[in-house]
Amino acid sequence: MRKTNYAEIASKYESNKTRLNVPPEKVLGEFLQSKAGSSEPCTVLDLACGTGLWLSAQYEAYTSQDPAFQTQWLGVDASQEMLGVCRGKFGDHLPDNVRLACAPAEDLPLPDQSVDFVALNFAFHHFSDKDKALNELARVMRPAGLLKYLNVAPNHSPDWWIYRFFPQAIELDRARLWEIERIEKGLSDRGYQITRQKLIDPDRHFTAEEMLAEAGLRETSQLVILDDEQYDRGIVKLEQFVRENPGAQVKMGLNLQYFVAELAEGA
Ligand SMILES: C[S@@+](CC[C@H](N)C(=O)[O-])C[C@H]1O[C@@H](n2cnc3c(N)ncnc32)[C@H](O)[C@@H]1O
Repeated sequence: MRKTNYAEIASKYESNKTRLNVPPEKVLGEFLQSKAGSSEPCTVLDLACGTGLWLSAQYEAYTSQDPAFQTQWLGVDASQEMLGVCRGKFGDHLPDNVRLACAPAEDLPLPDQSVDFVALNFAFHHFSDKDKALNELARVMRPAGLLKYLNVAPNHSPDWWIYRFFPQAIELDRARLWEIERIEKGLSDRGYQITRQKLIDPDRHFTAEEMLAEAGLRETSQLVILDDEQYDRGIVKLEQFVRENPGAQVKMGLNLQYFVAELAEGA
């Protein structure tokens, strides 16, 4: 299986419009509210933050409720190029309460018990040593800290157009993404408990032409890790679909796994 080279993808990552418009994270808002007035400021980590879509959206949404700029915002990613795009979202100079670091999730450059809230969006499948990354998560998290996870759920997305036109992609995703039960076991072994979980259907529709244009970007890792021959075969099928169904509306068909886990006090 090919690895996804985010140095090459960084400049086109946000050309995929389905990635944009990240809403304020409700569970983060409630968490920050519950900590308001406490002596220790909160630290929020976007792990594998990429181009900072989540980090910048949350910073914007919640900084107005934090007039003293007490909350510390951290973005960590293994790709300098992705972090470069992220940095650009914060203007010429990073605000004093935002820090970005280039590092692997398996070896975080953070002290023990230094983070209160971690977001892990669309990234867990990229970690080459997932157990090590989970160890690091548990090490850096403060007791009663929260982990929010969001990712593709291949076994709940058989109709995702990417899997329909590029059928090898679902097998590759099944191999690199852990099922919720396995993640839950990995987390509970480290003192976490999943407190809420659900499948999210983003309920988006595309035209056939938009689907083809998105596939042509080849910036989503499901398409990057295919052999060129597998990718080209899918593109030919998509082109044929567009010819036969011009302007057709197609449901995206992707379901996302979401959960929130809390680290027990004294873990
Ligand atoms: C699909 S992108 C997701 C980015 C962002 N979380 C988002 O939702 O847009 C995956 C990110 O994981 C990063 N990544 C891959 N392996 C990593 C690792 N071992 N440690 C930290 N980041 C990693 C990549 O550089 C890339 O930015």
